Amino acid sequence: MKQLNGQVALVTGAGTGIGRASAIALAGEGAAVTLVGRRQGLLDETATAIRGAGGTALALSADLTDHDAARGVVARTESEFGRLDVLVNNAGGPSRSRSVRTIGAEDFAAVHRLNVTAPLILTQAALPAMLARGTGTVITISSYAAVNCTPMSGVAYGAAKAAVASVMQSLNNELRDQGLRACTIYPGEADTPILESRALVPDAEARATMMQPEDVAAIVRLCACLPGRTLVEEVYVRPTRLRDISADITAATQT
Ligand SMILES: NC(=O)c1ccc[n+]([C@@H]2O[C@H](COP(=O)([O-])OP(=O)(O)OC[C@H]3O[C@@H](n4cnc5c(N)ncnc54)[C@H](OP(=O)(O)O)[C@@H]3O)[C@@H](O)[C@H]2O)c1
Repeated sequence: MKQLNGQVALVTGAGTGIGRASAIALAGEGAAVTLVGRRQGLLDETATAIRGAGGTALALSADLTDHDAARGVVARTESEFGRLDVLVNNAGGPSRSRSVRTIGAEDFAAVHRLNVTAPLILTQAALPAMLARGTGTVITISSYAAVNCTPMSGVAYGAAKAAVASVMQSLNNELRDQGLRACTIYPGEADTPILESRALVPDAEARATMMQPEDVAAIVRLCACLPGRTLVEEVYVRPTRLRDISADITAATQT
């Protein structure tokens, strides 16, 4: 039996990579899924895949650094489907400059706005109905960079991914007794479009050592599907083989 029948999920960054795979996984468990990202065409492709498998999807284009737009996708989900059970804060990304020597304040702040403030705003928008119902799950994709950041990911990205994990810890410590649960996932390298932004774009051999988006999506599904009494608080998931990233770090320090 599907474990999310009758439930509703909202997945950000659902047009590509881990977000797309997570949306498809949650829809496969019976959830109606709102798909959010900036590029409508990619969201429509994810929606088509979900509907083709018999699922329900709503594709909403929004730039989540616009906080009114972020609140709007939660409101639209609740008006369209009547509820929101599972929020997946997946959209994110790094700065142009990765180096602690050269990162600019504006670039640093922009990474924070997307990776930390947007998940907070989305969570705040989802909370009133979740609290009224006494149940709700917030799943956030942080990064291994939150705990061990190298120039390959960049100083702004590592700081933001650590900060958003702390926001989720606050959510648990403040609201878990009211039925809310926040799950933070810290992935290592996964073969997704985010890799194209690196100074040294990984080749096929490097990508073959990495996780696939579906591997991280399997953790998202687990966090959402376990009964509400059970909180998967933090998951560290990374490739079994650890590749040598010294050339990646050298290239990134030039940015
Ligand atoms: N792949 C990895 O190795 C890895 C490792 C650790 C953590 N992560 C994290 O996993 C999450 C998913 O990344 P991914 O690897 O799947 O890469 P990805 O395919 O590049 O996904 C990033 C998604 O975020 C969306 N996005 C970016 N800026 C946005 C904005 N302003 N408003 C709305 N949506 C926005 C993008 O869609 P649009 O461009 O269409 O808006 C895209 O779908 C990210 O938080 C990333 O930091 C990835």
